[in-house]
Amino acid sequence: MSNLDQLKEKIARLKEELRAVIIAHNYQRPEVQDIADFVGDSLELSRQCTEVDAQTIVFCGVRFMAETAAILNPNRTVLLSEASAGCPLADMINIDELREWKQKYPRASVVCYINSSAEIKAESDICCTSANGTKVVDSVLSNDIIFVPDQNLGHYISTQTKKNIILYPGFCYVHHRLKPEQVKLAKKLHPDAQILVHPECQPEVIDLADAALSTGQMLSYAKASSHSSFIIGTEEGLLHQLRLENPDKSFYLISNSQICTDMKRTTLETLAQTMELRQNIVTVAEEVRLKAKQAVDRMLAIS
Ligand code: 13P
Ligand code: SF4
Repeated sequence: MSNLDQLKEKIARLKEELRAVIIAHNYQRPEVQDIADFVGDSLELSRQCTEVDAQTIVFCGVRFMAETAAILNPNRTVLLSEASAGCPLADMINIDELREWKQKYPRASVVCYINSSAEIKAESDICCTSANGTKVVDSVLSNDIIFVPDQNLGHYISTQTKKNIILYPGFCYVHHRLKPEQVKLAKKLHPDAQILVHPECQPEVIDLADAALSTGQMLSYAKASSHSSFIIGTEEGLLHQLRLENPDKSFYLISNSQICTDMKRTTLETLAQTMELRQNIVTVAEEVRLKAKQAVDRMLAIS
């Protein structure tokens, strides 16, 4: 038996022992996606976390995702596949900064992107993902909305709603560094391709795209589309599901820089070790969890 097969067998055995379910984000390494019980975007995985029949949730992704699972599942053990996997975007705002912004705009509601810590969620009125941002913003009664922490998603939502969006200046380096010139070059190389980008891209990049979509929405779009080629403006891990679901279609990246280092920290080895040692347990203080859960539940109720 090869080393890889031994590792897969070990993970399967540990899954039984822990009565675990393995959940993976679309940006994970192909071999991690393949071993997972569920693969999806942030919204799909949050929903999945409320429906699992398991004692342990093993989250292959980054910390805020495992934290969301812990917020929704106080009676289950949540393990993060790799302790050091964070999200630099989520880390761009801390609780003191958010409180200052709330003082500065006392009449505004706070909508936080799910890419944020449990403390930020607890201090927000409602949470959103890239799949439901406009719907969430439109559901809020107040006209003024502080949107944290991603300026590009917030800007994209502002083009889809009449609400006044106050943008916090955070960004995701993986998406923010994609340039319009790179998109134009990709289109020149693949003139028949549809351009699908994530709303974490800059407005000038989104303007050149055929659609701005969450990773889950990109999968649905590509499957339903009559087009046979696509230029993809999000993290390269998504190509795995795109190609599995559409073996006859072609997918191209805009640049070779579309890699989230944190998402790639999880390997089959780190996953097996996490499960074997029952380590990287993610917990959220109960007072914070209850408030954060309200923000996540409000989102799940309308999407
Ligand atoms: P999705 O919710 O679209 O999968 O995006 C998550 C993310 O981290 C984007 O960088
Ligand atoms: Fe965070 Fe960007 Fe990585 Fe998504 S791709 S986890 S937003 S750093």
